[in-house]
Amino acid sequence: MRKPIMAGNWKMFKTEIEAVDFCAKLKPLINDVSNITILICPSFPALPKVWDEIKDSKMALGAQNLHWEEEGAFTGEVSAAMLKCVGCSYVIIGHSERRQYFGETDVTVHKKLLAALKHNLSPIVCIGETLEQRDKNETFKVIETQVKGAFHGIDVKHWDNIVIAYEPVWAIGTGKTATPEQAQEVHAFIRGLLPAEVAPKTRILYGGSVKPENVKELMAKPDIDGGLVGGAALKIESFEKLIKY
Ligand code: 13P
Repeated sequence: MRKPIMAGNWKMFKTEIEAVDFCAKLKPLINDVSNITILICPSFPALPKVWDEIKDSKMALGAQNLHWEEEGAFTGEVSAAMLKCVGCSYVIIGHSERRQYFGETDVTVHKKLLAALKHNLSPIVCIGETLEQRDKNETFKVIETQVKGAFHGIDVKHWDNIVIAYEPVWAIGTGKTATPEQAQEVHAFIRGLLPAEVAPKTRILYGGSVKPENVKELMAKPDIDGGLVGGAALKIESFEKLIKY
């Protein structure tokens, strides 16, 4: 059985104070939740204080990026060990916004994946096609390239820790969700690309305008194992509904 994950990717929202306040308010609302992993991914500066707030709760902590090197002269970057040290157990890698605005490629995604695994951080590797690629019927080709680029050579023993997020770029922040059928089709395809011994147990999250109104239908699909949520994870009322879908 794959335990679902509901992850809030807060992107560049919420100061440390706002992030801690959110977690303090969410905590009592999720006391009885046990069948789902609840993950909060705040900005780097908020990580230590958020960890203080949530470490005895049902929530886990994730970062939104990392650098692949152990340490060094890489101004502005953050290593896997640094994330581990402030309570992170997950890290998002290769989000489409990082691919689009910060030059992230399948090559850097792969290197970051290796760094995360080495430090026992669960990577959430994001993949997904643009609208142009979908319109040109290139979705499956793009997904296959991204999956192979990220995961080539990864030993099966690491796969317990690996999470994949399918985020069609055209559905991110647009209010335009992939239909559950569109998402399921790609999720099943992704699972089919994974090594046979790990495919049934690997969690594949959907991301792109997940909200309380569509979460149930999405989660009902056999290959959708959770959500990586932006906008609807910024408000307690909607994130609580997603967690309790
Ligand atoms: P939205 O939920 O705001 O569409 O963002 C999705 C996303 O990018 C999560 O990583």
